[in-house]
Amino acid sequence: MLSRASDLASLVFAGNAGKAWGALSYRVHSDSISVGLRRDLSVRFTSPSASLPLTVRPLAATDDLSSLHPEPGITSDEAFFRLTQRRLLRSGLHTCYVAIAPDGKLCYMQWVIPASENERLRGFFGNLYPLIGRDEALLEGAYTPTAFRGKGIMGAAMAQVAERAAEFGARWVITFVDQQNAASIKGCLRAGFTPYLRRHEKFRLFYRQVKFDPLMPPAAVQLPSEKT
Ligand SMILES: CC(C)(COP(=O)(O)OP(=O)(O)OC[C@H]1O[C@@H](n2cnc3c(N)ncnc32)[C@H](O)[C@@H]1OP(=O)(O)O)[C@@H](O)C(=O)NCCC(=O)NCCS
Repeated sequence: MLSRASDLASLVFAGNAGKAWGALSYRVHSDSISVGLRRDLSVRFTSPSASLPLTVRPLAATDDLSSLHPEPGITSDEAFFRLTQRRLLRSGLHTCYVAIAPDGKLCYMQWVIPASENERLRGFFGNLYPLIGRDEALLEGAYTPTAFRGKGIMGAAMAQVAERAAEFGARWVITFVDQQNAASIKGCLRAGFTPYLRRHEKFRLFYRQVKFDPLMPPAAVQLPSEKT
């Protein structure tokens, strides 16, 4: 809570008061829908390639995270994304994987969260996610630094990050994306994920209610830009 409040204060001080107000209003009154997607690791899948070769590995203490700095000139949405990534880095959730470009720069990051981290996950996100089953792992915090966007990195890197979940005993890898986030949904589909759940999140005066509806059978999602 304190961490979120300090993020809101940083947004205001950096001139993004509108975004801070939006984030606050979201918790006062909002209704939103996310798509739950999953991939069955027991089914063979050929990872797509990005337009540059990638090396996927766990985040190292020496990795340069300067692409997460809220530098002047970025949009308020981007400032918000970077603050979220920095908060996740402080959450204590293991394990963050990164993709490294040929020039040594970090070009993607995402957490693999197994069932053993359910308590920490609840502590950080409240009731936003279902309890992770013993044969499941959650992927959270997908982020491609702005300089690397639009190169097909998400699909390629996420496909490889998902496979790391097998090291935690997971067969099913799950993830959730706001249904308005077309770029992220496309990345998930390219990484071999299929929509299987719809999550309804409702905030009234800072009280959050979350409901999950299975998609039976697993359905195709309509991307926001493709709506008629
Ligand atoms: C979502 C995100 C991880 C996608 O990463 P990516 O590596 O750029 O993914 P892709 O290269 O596959 O591009 C996906 C889509 O992004 C859009 N895109 C393309 N170039 C872009 C650019 N320069 N900047 C922003 N978006 C771009 C396009 O719609 C593209 O789809 P297309 O390939 O069919 O044209 C990235 O946009 C990001 O970090 N966004 C902020 C954080 C976020 O939303 N995380 C997901 C939370 S669930």
